[in-house]
Amino acid sequence: MAVFDYVCIGYLSPFTMGYIIVKKRILSGMRPSGKLHLGHAEGVLSNWVKLQDEYECYYEVADFHSLTTDYQDTSGVKNNIKEMVIDWLSCGLDPDKCCMFVQSDVSQHAQLHLLLSMIVPLSWLERCPTYKEQLQQLKDRDISTYGFLGYPVLQAADILLYQADAVPVGEDQLPHLELTREIVRRFNFIYKPSKQVFLEPRSLLTHCPKLPGIDGRKMSKSYNNCIYISDSPEIITKKIKKMITDPARIKINDPGHPDICSVYGLHKVYTSSSSLLEDLTGECKQGEIGCVACKKKLTEAILTKMEPIYKKRKEVEKYPIQSILKKSGEKAREIAYSTMEEVKKIMRI
Ligand code: TRP
Ligand code: SF4
Repeated sequence: MAVFDYVCIGYLSPFTMGYIIVKKRILSGMRPSGKLHLGHAEGVLSNWVKLQDEYECYYEVADFHSLTTDYQDTSGVKNNIKEMVIDWLSCGLDPDKCCMFVQSDVSQHAQLHLLLSMIVPLSWLERCPTYKEQLQQLKDRDISTYGFLGYPVLQAADILLYQADAVPVGEDQLPHLELTREIVRRFNFIYKPSKQVFLEPRSLLTHCPKLPGIDGRKMSKSYNNCIYISDSPEIITKKIKKMITDPARIKINDPGHPDICSVYGLHKVYTSSSSLLEDLTGECKQGEIGCVACKKKLTEAILTKMEPIYKKRKEVEKYPIQSILKKSGEKAREIAYSTMEEVKKIMRI
């Protein structure tokens, strides 16, 4: 799909003697919640890494966004950013291919957020499904704040500042993209720019395999059931050993029910060949494989997949993370600055 997603200016350049290819631009972001788990690696990062070669990519550490829910205790923010960026790099994001920057290093995010907040009707934000859900779920803190309500406006500002053509996101973020498109239409309707500065971004829906955590619930930091990208082979082996399997399997030859077993849930993602997975399904159902052996196979499959990540991490630990982010921040700021200049002209301020 995306291989053809270029704007190809069809003439031969006398300098390069080739076609000039302008890559389309994408932007995506993640809130810095610290170290990332296998769900992030399989769902988001593997996709971001692929996109680096096909698009001009901007990957943002959305620290302003994390303040919307975690404004009370900000002591961990800096360290969370560092841990997350080390995981990004270990999984193959390459600062020479993409621009990874910290949102709060680019003050234009705050400026555009403010200007857009003038034109976004309250009702659009109040009916946003993610807003309603989070209000229900995060009962342990007070998020009935102005900033939290404006979360999707801040996200729209991220996307529009870079005039991104497309945004790779999981399904849960689709309402925010729809809202971004609505904001673009409203902006154009109100200010009638002679030349449009904002594009309506498309979503590049990412397939995120659902990874069970070691307790069978969805893998999530808040459940404390994660296998982290930074976990050593020993820790991963230990965590898998502890996993609960099908309770019906007491004796080794009791027939099992893979569909209710979280070890199997992970096998579905990590056991690469479908015939191996089929064999395993049959062996479990017929009581021909014990859970200990099955877990051993899973451990091997995960560690094989992790091998290049471990190798890369050794290198990455020597990288000057701060200066990588600083350099990328400068590039991001240049684009953000020129967008803001255009926006101000259009709004006559
Ligand atoms: N809201 C996104 C999430 O929680 C993170 C994010 C912030 C983002 N800014 C973005 C995603 C811009 C895509 C584009 O996952
Ligand atoms: Fe789960 Fe594997 Fe045991 Fe079957 S054999 S119950 S899939 S751990």
